[in-house]
Amino acid sequence: MRRIGIVTSGGDAPGMNAAIRAVARIAYSKNLEVLGFERGWEGLMTNTFRPVTPRSVSGIIQLGGTILHTSRSPQFKKKEGIRKAANNLAMNKIDGLAVIGGDGSFKGALELSKETSSLMVGVPATIDNDVFGTDETIGFDTAVNTAVAEIDRIRDTAISHERVFIVEVMGRTRGFLASTVGLTVGAEIILVPEAKTEKERIVKRLAENSAKGKRSGIIVAAEGIGDTRKLGREIEKSTGTEVRVSVLGYAQRGGSPTARSRLLASLFANEAVNLLSEGRENRVVGLQKGEVTSTGLEKSCENEKPLDLSLLRLADALSI
Ligand code: F6P
Repeated sequence: MRRIGIVTSGGDAPGMNAAIRAVARIAYSKNLEVLGFERGWEGLMTNTFRPVTPRSVSGIIQLGGTILHTSRSPQFKKKEGIRKAANNLAMNKIDGLAVIGGDGSFKGALELSKETSSLMVGVPATIDNDVFGTDETIGFDTAVNTAVAEIDRIRDTAISHERVFIVEVMGRTRGFLASTVGLTVGAEIILVPEAKTEKERIVKRLAENSAKGKRSGIIVAAEGIGDTRKLGREIEKSTGTEVRVSVLGYAQRGGSPTARSRLLASLFANEAVNLLSEGRENRVVGLQKGEVTSTGLEKSCENEKPLDLSLLRLADALSI
């Protein structure tokens, strides 16, 4: 192993820069050269890269986003795109590629691994926390804290106006962000795609709360449950309570990474470079029960990470 490449791919996540920094510096400590491809798979297909050195990653550990930029590349879903990328890996003598991204990026890496002798290692970085093989992804803790801070502010106006707020958080089709954010803001109700909640049950719960003297409420909804504005109108009609909907949006993707996200970035990147330098076949690094470990790339792509529904039950018990 002499040269490795880095791509940051898919939705950006706070901590990606800390991971780039750690890959570059651990690689350097092993006399490995590093090339950073621009804009995710796009850069690999167009052969757009720059050397990444221990000095060129100075002062980025605290920065959100990714200095290598990223993209969602439909071209890469085609055989032709994969082949272009594989050719550029060969042409640049890239022995191993660190793919910093989420499950979509890992599925791309799996397809690429079938066309190249370069080894792939996945470094899970996504605010959705939906990667199989790790309890937590880089950026999740930061997104949770960003959402919690926003919702604490929304709670102030909900109490002042005695309103119910539906706060929509990201998470694509999964409820990891909503369940952790909901529990930690003391939400009255948490809505996730993995556990459908009928409107009638929400209305009943709000009526019970109102009977107990609760004049306001926070409902945290994963974006994957559907049209939250429509749901808000329906609940307002059924309860007579003023309901407002707040979509937190892209602020959840940005911001300076928390210490936790930086820690995971450093640990995961270190493990990734170790696996590549040991010549280990196509893995995804991760944290399992507090241990840094790794899972086969194919296994990670083929399995869906289960959502721990006990968080919802706990939030329910705590919102009495
Ligand atoms: O995967 C991260 C994420 O922020 C999801 O939570 C969200 O559904 C999606 O990306 C938004 O995608 P885009 O950046 O393409 O709008």
